Amino acid sequence: MKSLSFLLSVAACLVSASAVAIEHNAVVPADALAPRGGHGHGHQEPLKDNWGNAVEKDRKKITIRASKHDRDDISDDFLAAIKKANHGGLLHLKKGKKYVIGKKLDLSFLKDVYVKIDGELKFTDDIKYWQANNFYYPFQKSITFWVWGGKDIKIYGSGVINGNGQAWWDGFSGAEILDPNNKYYRPILFLTDNATNIEVNGLHLKDSPCWTNFFVRTKNVVFDDVYISAVSTNASSLPKNTDGFDSYNVDGLTVLNTRVNVGDDCFSPKPNTTNILVRNLWCNGTHGVSMGSIGQYPGVQDFISNAHLENITLLNGENGARLKAWAGPSVGYGYISNITYKDIHVENTDHPIVLDQCYFNIPAATCAAYPSKVNITGVRFLNVHGTSSGKEGRVVADLTCSPGATCNGIHLENINITSPKGEAQVVCDNIQGDIGVPCIPGSEAA
Ligand SMILES: *[C@@H]1O[C@H](CO)[C@@H](O)[C@H](O)[C@H]1NC(C)=O
Ligand SMILES: *[C@@H]1O[C@H](CO)[C@@H](O)[C@H](O)[C@H]1NC(C)=O
Ligand SMILES: *[C@@H]1O[C@H](CO)[C@@H](O)[C@H](O)[C@H]1NC(C)=O
Ligand SMILES: *[C@@H]1O[C@H](CO)[C@@H](O)[C@H](O)[C@H]1NC(C)=O
Ligand SMILES: *[C@@H]1O[C@H](CO)[C@@H](O)[C@H](O)[C@H]1NC(C)=O
Ligand SMILES: *[C@@H]1O[C@H](CO)[C@@H](O)[C@H](O)[C@H]1NC(C)=O
Ligand SMILES: *[C@@H]1O[C@H](CO)[C@@H](O)[C@H](O)[C@H]1NC(C)=O
Ligand SMILES: *[C@@H]1O[C@H](CO)[C@@H](O)[C@H](O)[C@H]1NC(C)=O
Repeated sequence: MKSLSFLLSVAACLVSASAVAIEHNAVVPADALAPRGGHGHGHQEPLKDNWGNAVEKDRKKITIRASKHDRDDISDDFLAAIKKANHGGLLHLKKGKKYVIGKKLDLSFLKDVYVKIDGELKFTDDIKYWQANNFYYPFQKSITFWVWGGKDIKIYGSGVINGNGQAWWDGFSGAEILDPNNKYYRPILFLTDNATNIEVNGLHLKDSPCWTNFFVRTKNVVFDDVYISAVSTNASSLPKNTDGFDSYNVDGLTVLNTRVNVGDDCFSPKPNTTNILVRNLWCNGTHGVSMGSIGQYPGVQDFISNAHLENITLLNGENGARLKAWAGPSVGYGYISNITYKDIHVENTDHPIVLDQCYFNIPAATCAAYPSKVNITGVRFLNVHGTSSGKEGRVVADLTCSPGATCNGIHLENINITSPKGEAQVVCDNIQGDIGVPCIPGSEAA
């Protein structure tokens, strides 16, 4: 993957070099530009990016002043500059410089813009300000510093977007985000809404106060070569809910060549997400790669469909490949369908493969009385190998379908996960049909 894209970018450089020459010699007759020695290019069309827009070198470049210190808020400059760069330009944040954002930003108007971040874009940790000034989404009571929306938005570079999460984690310590009484909302680091064609490339997304990425009403998001981390310096307040990727009403979600080092979900599309591709993802210390949770809100139908996840490494976490749906007296319904997990490597993971329809923290009796109504069909786990932590004894895969739902077309193949507690066991309850490997009821698990 990496070497292929490297070759492609070398090829792109070669092409663009000749395109420059052609531009600067526009009056030279076309035959004078005929290929020589097989290296030339006969056409004169300027290069275009994946969306048919100008490539970096052809864009008007806008720069802004850097911050002098952590309270030197440049958000007005950033907003003015991105307006200037909009419609075909590029905003550049320079290497070695810091740019502090201390005010909420509405970036919902974008159309064909590049934002190249080689420096550090850092949010203030003025908790009082942000809790009073943010963009709010009712889904799991989410807030964010800024909203990105519009069409053809590329954000890339070797720099950092820093959520400055430590003070937020310290303040939240001991609370629970899904507690209906929780009022301590924390901002999401990157959020798109009503957006089409988003590409994020090369960046480090660091220390988000809450979820790192949330895509809402969005089409075609591609993350490539991104590093996501949330690491606390305070042993008594660990990062919480710092999920790598969440989504809501999204069609087309691709994550490639990405590393995630956070204490919660690594990748977890939420209601109404379809056409998902994940390849070469590395997750450390996470809650795994999940479909869901879905089915949370009463009367609402949710779905997740058509996902392919391949070559995923999951280390030291709670879950590996997971499906999760809500149960309880006032929840929704829906389905998860056509999901492939392929070439999954787990190490020291509590639940390497898990289908959980008793989410979230619901007593078993409540789940039995009010079972999940999310159907789960067509899920394949192919080539899953590695080790469990032994926390669930010998159980390395737990597929427990809700009695209120249909689970069929669940297929496991080439599974080799060892448990330190003894010979590995696979649990299957209420699953229709053969799952491809021997399995036992949960009541018999050791
Ligand atoms: C979504 O964005 C388009 C422009 O890209 C705009 O015309 C439309 O009004 C926006 N829809 C909503 C609900 O904001
Ligand atoms: C670490 O977090 C705890 C819990 O929020 C807090 O009481 C304490 O002040 C923090 N320590 C430091 C050095 O900030
Ligand atoms: C699988 O992903 C890892 C990163 O976790 C990468 O180093 C490796 O090259 C990938 N393998 C293939 C076959 O692409
Ligand atoms: C993985 O996470 C653990 C904590 O969960 C940490 O100690 C370790 O350094 C991380 N490994 C890497 C390679 O980042
Ligand atoms: C998901 O899609 C279904 C069917 O189109 C719709 O009824 C439902 O409201 C959507 N759910 C959300 C959370 O938007
Ligand atoms: C299942 O999902 C894959 C993408 O992962 C897609 O290519 C395929 O067409 C889907 N199958 C059906 C029947 O929709
Ligand atoms: C779940 O499956 C049952 C039949 O097995 C069907 O009656 C029901 O409509 C399905 N629910 C959804 C949301 O697809
Ligand atoms: C399963 O994996 C272990 C190492 O984790 C290896 O020793 C063993 O040969 C593998 N078994 C099969 C059937 O591939």
